Parts: sequence; structure tokens; C-alpha cells
Amino acid sequence: MAVKQTKFILPEDRMPRAWYNIAADLPVSPAPPLNPGTGQPIGPDDLAPLFPMELIKQVVSKDREIEIPEPVLEAYALYRPSPLYRAHRLERSLDTPAHIYYKYEGGSPSGSHKPNTAIPQAFYSREEGVTRLSTETGAGQWGSALAFAGALFGLEVKVYMVRASYDQKPYRRILMETYGAQVTPSPSSETEYGRRVLATDPDHTGSLGVAISEGIEDAVTHPGTKYSLGSVFDFVLLHQTVIGQETILQMELAGEEPDIIVGCAGGGSNFAGLSFPWLGRTLRGGRSYQVIAAEPEAAPSLTRGVYRYDFGDTARMAPLIKMHTLGHDFIPEPIHAGGLRYHGMAPLVSLLKEQGVIEARAVHQRKSFEAGTRFARTEGILPAPEPTHALAVVIDEALRAKAEGTRPVILFNLCGHGHFDLTAYERYLTGALEDFEYPAERVEAALADLAGLPV
Ligand SMILES: Cc1ncc(COP(=O)(O)O)c(C=O)c1O
Repeated sequence: MAVKQTKFILPEDRMPRAWYNIAADLPVSPAPPLNPGTGQPIGPDDLAPLFPMELIKQVVSKDREIEIPEPVLEAYALYRPSPLYRAHRLERSLDTPAHIYYKYEGGSPSGSHKPNTAIPQAFYSREEGVTRLSTETGAGQWGSALAFAGALFGLEVKVYMVRASYDQKPYRRILMETYGAQVTPSPSSETEYGRRVLATDPDHTGSLGVAISEGIEDAVTHPGTKYSLGSVFDFVLLHQTVIGQETILQMELAGEEPDIIVGCAGGGSNFAGLSFPWLGRTLRGGRSYQVIAAEPEAAPSLTRGVYRYDFGDTARMAPLIKMHTLGHDFIPEPIHAGGLRYHGMAPLVSLLKEQGVIEARAVHQRKSFEAGTRFARTEGILPAPEPTHALAVVIDEALRAKAEGTRPVILFNLCGHGHFDLTAYERYLTGALEDFEYPAERVEAALADLAGLPV
């Protein structure tokens, strides 16, 4: 009897040589980012203090394909192409007729999809004479990825790590330090903004919004430093499309096409990375897919936020971007999916949600960890808390297929492993994990927060 194929592996020479730029295929133009001070559309000069020029050019490019530089391809080859798996054992445990596939990004050196953009950001910075990068990290995955990329290209890396994660995940900090980065809990006393936050609340648990403000302030106050970010911005989503492009080739190897595509969404980069190359086919007149972004109930920007201009950070230093937001002052409960604790969403993902091209679902963390545990017990890989949200949606869809007698092909992004998240799994296993609902009053308060900003 033939053994059923489980992994769909591409050779290195089939690694995509260009990123896919969805801006070339969008039916409507995205609203421009605005200068946080003047409210006017920002130009390259506004972004130049923060980012290398090559990345700024990518943000404004309408070219469908943007070539991946050779040194980036060589670094990608350390872990790319990443495998696509058919989840035979999960399917059996659910007794579902659905076919479930997962793209596994946890095999990268730092354990998630984040190096896909950390590597080019570090490369372009080095090319333009930058010697130091500052950034924020929520779960520690992004900080680890940038620390790794900084080591590859000989750059110093300074990471402001959200206090809640800094306390929950000492091993992530040690990994970053091993790569050579300097890690500070945020809010910190090292920036003026951090000191202001600590003055009002010395026990502040931090948020991505606050840590981003500290990272930006650090970049503009230190010579030779640029700011790097792990999500939200268009060029980050662009770099992640290498994931989806590989899956198009790998699903061909499997002889199937997905009906449903699922990714978790914090700022939207792994979700976009998987789904945009598929959506590009739809936007160019091809078949459509049901594309679902999974987010936490405790930070439900896509499902319960408003779609309008807001700041990407708490100190109002980042550009104003049109997105689904819970308000830049939103401080999420300390759920364990640290990478999903963000008040906003990538403008490109928000636009597609607004246009009805994609949908979103919010999931509680207990249900997510239940899905993650089931996955570990069937497929063996321990997922990071973030993709367990996607997994919970996948399981819902697989069970729906069983109930309705359909046979959908489901593809999802297992965008990181959870080896540094064992405290969270322990809390789930011992019944100590709580669910947090985002209260309706806070949606109202978030709206008030935005009064006076452009719509
Ligand atoms: C493993 C993992 N998944 C998902 C996310 C959320 O980010 P994004 O929505 O940009 O993929 C993070 C962010 O830190 C992460 O570490």
C-alpha cells in the first residue's frame, strides 16, 4: 500500500525570486498614510529618518513583482523553502472529510515567519550605512528574528520588549541576547516617552503601541540608527508573501487548491504573507477563496474595531494610517498570544476586510490553546499561541464540513512554534488560563479617543 504523502517540499532552486506586491492588483487605492504632526499625506522624506530608502520605495511601488536581493535569498536559504504539511492525523482525530494543509514557518532559526522581513530590513539598512536598529517586540518572536538578522549583517540591535512578555518569557530575552541584541522591558526609563508612561503607572504591563513609540524615539535620537518593525507596514507584508508564493507551488505538488485560507492576525503580516499571493489570483480574475483572519477576543481590531485613521503607536509618533483600530490608547489584557495584542491592523488587510474580500473571526484564548494542544497531540508540533487562533478556526471549519457533508481543502499558516510559550501551555493544562472579552464600553471609548483625527 502506498504511504500517504505528508510533506510537500520544494528544492532551494524553486524558492521565489521576487515578492508579490498586491498594490498592483488592488481594485481601489489604499488611503495614504498621513504625517502625525501635520495630517498631510506623507512622502519619502517623512519616512527617511526611520527607514532605509529601499524600503520606502517598496511602499510606493506599483510593480507586481519586487526582486529579492541575492544576499537575502542566501540568508532565506537557511530555512526556506519551508515545508507544507498535510495534517492527516489532525483530520483523523476530527473525523473530518476536509483536507487540512499547514505551511510551517516555525522551522526558521528564530522560530517564526518574522525573519522573512527581518532579513531584508537588516540587509537594506546595512547597504545604506546604518549601524544600529531599534525595534519593539511583543511575544519576543519579532525581537528574536531581528536580533538574528542583525547578527547576520553585522548590525547592533536594540529591542524594547513589552513588559508582560519580558516577565512571562525570559528565554526569549536570552535568545535575543545570545544573538547579540540589547533588550529592555517597555515601558522603560531609557526614552522620554517610557519615563512619562512609568510616571503615571510604574506597574504598566506595556503594550505594542507603547513599545513602538519607544523604538521610534530611540531611532530618531541615536545616530546611525533606523527603526525596524515586524508587522503592519506594507513592506513587511510584502516580504512575507514569500510564504504564500511557496504554497502555490506546493499545493500544485499536492494536486489540490485551497477553498479556505486561514491565518492569525496581530498586525496582519503572516496572514497577508500566506493569503495575498492567492488573493492576487482572484483580483486578476481567477477563482475566489474564502480567506479568514483569526484574531483574539481580547484585541479584536478587525471584528469590533472601527475603520478609520489612527496612530500606529501610543505616543502618536508613528504615521496616521487608515485601518481597523481599537484606539491607540488601547491596552490589551495580558493574553499569552503576545504577538496579537495590538490595537490596529495592517492598512492593506483592513482595506480588504472593508471591501469584503476577506473575513475575520475572533477567538478566545482557552479555545485557541485547546486547538493548539490537540494539534500537538496529533501532528506533534507545538504551535505558538498566535497561530492557535488560526487553528481554532480551521478546526471549526473542519467540523462544519463533517456536519454538512462537504470536503473543503483548508490551508493555514502555522507561523511559529511554541517552545518558549510553555508557561502559557502549563496555565492552560492546569486550568489557570482565563478568557478576556473586550467590553463594548471600551469600543465606545476607543471611538472617543479618535475624535479630531481625519476619517
Ligand atoms: C508567532 C507569531 N505569530 C503571529 C504574530 C502576529 O503578527 P502578524 O499578524 O504580523 O503575523 C506574531 C507577532 O509577534 C508572532 O510572533
